[in-house]
Amino acid sequence: MNELKSLNNKIKVKPYSPNLGGVVTGVDLSKEISGTELAFIKDAFNQYQVLFFQEQSEIPPKIQINLGKSFGPLHVHPAAPTMDGYPEIFEIHTHKDSKISNGSERFHSDVSCDEEPPLGTMLQLHILPESGGDTMFTNMYMAYDDLSEKMKEFLDDLHAWHESAHIYKGRYKERGVSDKDILCPSSLHPVIRKHPETGKKAIFVNRSFTTKIEGLTDTESSNILNFLVDHCEKLKYQIRYRWNKNDMAFWDNRCTMHRAVWDYHPMERKGRRVTIKGDKPV
Ligand code: SIN
Repeated sequence: MNELKSLNNKIKVKPYSPNLGGVVTGVDLSKEISGTELAFIKDAFNQYQVLFFQEQSEIPPKIQINLGKSFGPLHVHPAAPTMDGYPEIFEIHTHKDSKISNGSERFHSDVSCDEEPPLGTMLQLHILPESGGDTMFTNMYMAYDDLSEKMKEFLDDLHAWHESAHIYKGRYKERGVSDKDILCPSSLHPVIRKHPETGKKAIFVNRSFTTKIEGLTDTESSNILNFLVDHCEKLKYQIRYRWNKNDMAFWDNRCTMHRAVWDYHPMERKGRRVTIKGDKPV
């Protein structure tokens, strides 16, 4: 991963850390992106798993939606606050009156409770606290690769439930979202999934949504799940991204987890997120 990637010496991607992430410069996401540029970005996305586009201006909602759509159809979050007139935009906003963070303080893969969980998420932050408000990411390929062959064999056949009612109910009440009609999906997914583009295997359980491994007793399931999430959250698989105003992060939910650090209250942090639909994990 320690290589510099560049397209015509214009768009450049350099590693954020040896283990995960790429910093992208030389592309203005508010302008139309050519087919060649898009192919280069997709390639970098598959290689680095999370891209940080720097030196950006604030991207209007419509343009962010179109940008997201160039990677696939967009997902509408079943419970989170969306932007008036733009249901595809999940507004990230915390400020002095917030009692809880924007809902992502534990490591997770976005909406993994869906039957077809999202491929990726694009978040641009326009208002940043003076300090703090980082986002952390983990590399789920590396976490898988480090397991013993015996453990890989054991996990390979297992499926786990990913549920959402315990997260979504009441979560966004202070942001004016009523619980009454929200959907709380739950789905059974393989514990180890194969990435549809790279063919690499990754662990696919997380501390937020994954509740039980099918076919194991409650004690067996919680012990194995605890082992797995502790393993995946080891420092050696992690990065912690310090945002600049208007950076756009684009992460792959199929091979990373992330969590926001809420260490900046009462300062404000605000941005917009679009989420790209994915396929059924196999
Ligand atoms: C999220 O989990 O989508 C939000 C991440 C962040 O606010 O840094």
